[in-house]
Amino acid sequence: MPGLFSPFTLKDTTLRNRIVVSPMCQYMSQEGVANDWHQVHYTSMARGGAGAVIVEATAVSPEGRISWGDAGLWNDEQAAALEPIVAAIRKWGAAPGIQLAHAGRKASANRPWEGDDHIPAGEPNAWQPIAPSAIPFGANLPRTPQEMSLQDIARVQQDVVRAAERARDVGFEWLQLHLAHGYLAQNFWSTYSNSRTDHYGGSAENRGRYLLETLSAVRKVWPENRPLAARFSVVEFDGNDEQMLLESIALLKKMKQAGLDTVDISIGFNTPTANIPWGPNFLGDIAGRVLSETGLPGTTSWYIDGPKGADQLIRDGKIDFASIGRPFLADPHWAYKAAKELGVEDAAWKTLPAPYAHWLARYR
Ligand SMILES: Cc1cc2nc3c(=O)[nH]c(=O)nc-3n(C[C@H](O)[C@H](O)[C@H](O)COP(=O)(O)O)c2cc1C
Repeated sequence: MPGLFSPFTLKDTTLRNRIVVSPMCQYMSQEGVANDWHQVHYTSMARGGAGAVIVEATAVSPEGRISWGDAGLWNDEQAAALEPIVAAIRKWGAAPGIQLAHAGRKASANRPWEGDDHIPAGEPNAWQPIAPSAIPFGANLPRTPQEMSLQDIARVQQDVVRAAERARDVGFEWLQLHLAHGYLAQNFWSTYSNSRTDHYGGSAENRGRYLLETLSAVRKVWPENRPLAARFSVVEFDGNDEQMLLESIALLKKMKQAGLDTVDISIGFNTPTANIPWGPNFLGDIAGRVLSETGLPGTTSWYIDGPKGADQLIRDGKIDFASIGRPFLADPHWAYKAAKELGVEDAAWKTLPAPYAHWLARYR
């Protein structure tokens, strides 16, 4: 059975190990343009031994940002700023990936450390969020989004396709569509946020239409030999989970037929009243079920229980690779530490460039 340090191949991309840095918003861009912060941040985790580094949720349009500091990919300046980051990730041995996103009704918020709440209408840095229906999230995000017209839907889908083309052209190898976490795609998918009466609302088939159409349109421009991924929520932990799981499995099967190569199984975060049972590896069994029923290779994240927990999930066949987030913020060389902890021979050489590996292999 493969483990955390076995290579993993999907389409023409081979990861040197099964450690994938999960996308993590930095909220450090100006006008959506990446800068030296992002260069250092992403390079360090590639240099530190990750198999792939997925660049943070990157907005496909200005109104699709969560906060004013979000990364964007709706113009050429933003694309050009990402080019050296892609090159550095690849140079240091990791596959460069990017997550494309639209924040839907959660857009126009303060950065997390500046409140994490909606900016009131009319204030600087605020804009009008859009969503399938005029239903606010509630709690810290009380703004009522504007209901999208059919033209709005077509325009945002076009924005996603244009951003995918830019991601392709700057050399990303792995494209992840953000279909989770209470942002726009999930606003369509979830009855908490979609009360439309046209063909984008109502039945599961209708609620899934925006996601399926968008994925199919992206697949047409995203090269066949590069992995197309999605982050998708299959549970809310709101007491109605079996139904959401069954509907999600059915939609994922359709997305697979439409060209989805891999999925990262996650949580909805589309209602403030969920009761999430946080704990080590708590999504492992759910991910295992969804991946085996859909036949999609994939992963999950949230409190994966260290290197041993990640390795075990893979050896048990529940996931194919591990999405690791906060541990990489605490230590960009998490992969090296993981290799040591798992007793990988020549852990330093297997994960780090010579100037570090030489000394770490010599002095234990
Ligand atoms: C600072 C921060 C930013 C995040 N931004 C994103 C994001 O851009 N897209 C996304 O899908 N998840 C995002 N997440 C969730 C992470 O990708 C990951 O799933 C989560 O941190 C749980 O994994 P962990 O327990 O290994 O940290 C973010 C998490 C953190 C801590």
